[in-house]
Amino acid sequence: MSRRALAGLGAALAAGGCRGNFSALAPAAEQASHINWVFWFFTLVCAAVYVATIAALVYALRRFRGNDASREPVTERLMGWWVAGGIGTSIVLLFALLVASIGTGRALAHRPTDQPLTIKVTAQQWWWDVEYQSPQPSEQFRTANEIHLPVGVPVRIVLASRDVIHSFWVPSLHGKKDAIPGHESDVWITATRTGTFRGQCGEFCGHQHASMSLLVHVQPRDRFEAWAAAQRASARESAGDDQRRGQEVFLRAQCVMCHTVRGTSAGSRFGPDLTHVGARQTLAAATLPLTDETLRRWIVDPQGVKPGNRMPPARLPEQDIDALVAYLRSLQ
Ligand code: CUA
Repeated sequence: MSRRALAGLGAALAAGGCRGNFSALAPAAEQASHINWVFWFFTLVCAAVYVATIAALVYALRRFRGNDASREPVTERLMGWWVAGGIGTSIVLLFALLVASIGTGRALAHRPTDQPLTIKVTAQQWWWDVEYQSPQPSEQFRTANEIHLPVGVPVRIVLASRDVIHSFWVPSLHGKKDAIPGHESDVWITATRTGTFRGQCGEFCGHQHASMSLLVHVQPRDRFEAWAAAQRASARESAGDDQRRGQEVFLRAQCVMCHTVRGTSAGSRFGPDLTHVGARQTLAAATLPLTDETLRRWIVDPQGVKPGNRMPPARLPEQDIDALVAYLRSLQ
């Protein structure tokens, strides 16, 4: 690759990394802004130190090249001053980095309210169970792989794991936080702008670690409330013949062994809650966009889409699959 092509690639990577919905350098929450600030502070200080060191090296190489007897000798005293200056500057800069780092840690640990919106996210191989918690049982609901947050509101995300160590990571909103079996931890997110941000499991957790993504939709408060109200409701009644037939298939086939559709007899918590699956944008932990075609592929051959996941293929007649897809898509 030519030097120009290399420079172009570097610039494109840098520009791509600084923008988009999956970048710690394009913060969309107070916490991510703190991390972004400390990143640039460290980068600039280290860059300045590097430039100063190289400049001093170049100066020394030029000034003392060869064995020129006419040149004034360097005294012990002068060398002592240079070394002392270097050590002093290093101590001051390292302290500045330490203070910035501790300050950022404190800012991230800040809990702005006693009664936050609390969302419990349980990681498992290889998807995210999402439970909106509330002291009122009627206010609670579950969903999966897509989290909605109101903008400007501090939200507490409680992290747990059902199997191995995973890591919850939505770079636009916060840094990584491990989800550890048998130990709950939490992160606070106060989103500062609306948008859809991508998250990714940040800790190697097995075969489909790379396909363990999630979406976070940050919405204006009223739209978030409307979404939450719709999510709290039981699944809507199946309207068309196809959908009714699809519901029958769903309840009679293996689906009920793992999934919940509130308002029906399906109530297993092993797999994702499908009560409002039709309202999601993606499928299989943000692996595929949700369309009739991808949903069909997923039901018929989940192991082909995401090898190693826990979902078995549905061996059903064509019409049953069609009806099942129509039913699931109707669960808005
Ligand atoms: Cu879960 Cu990596």
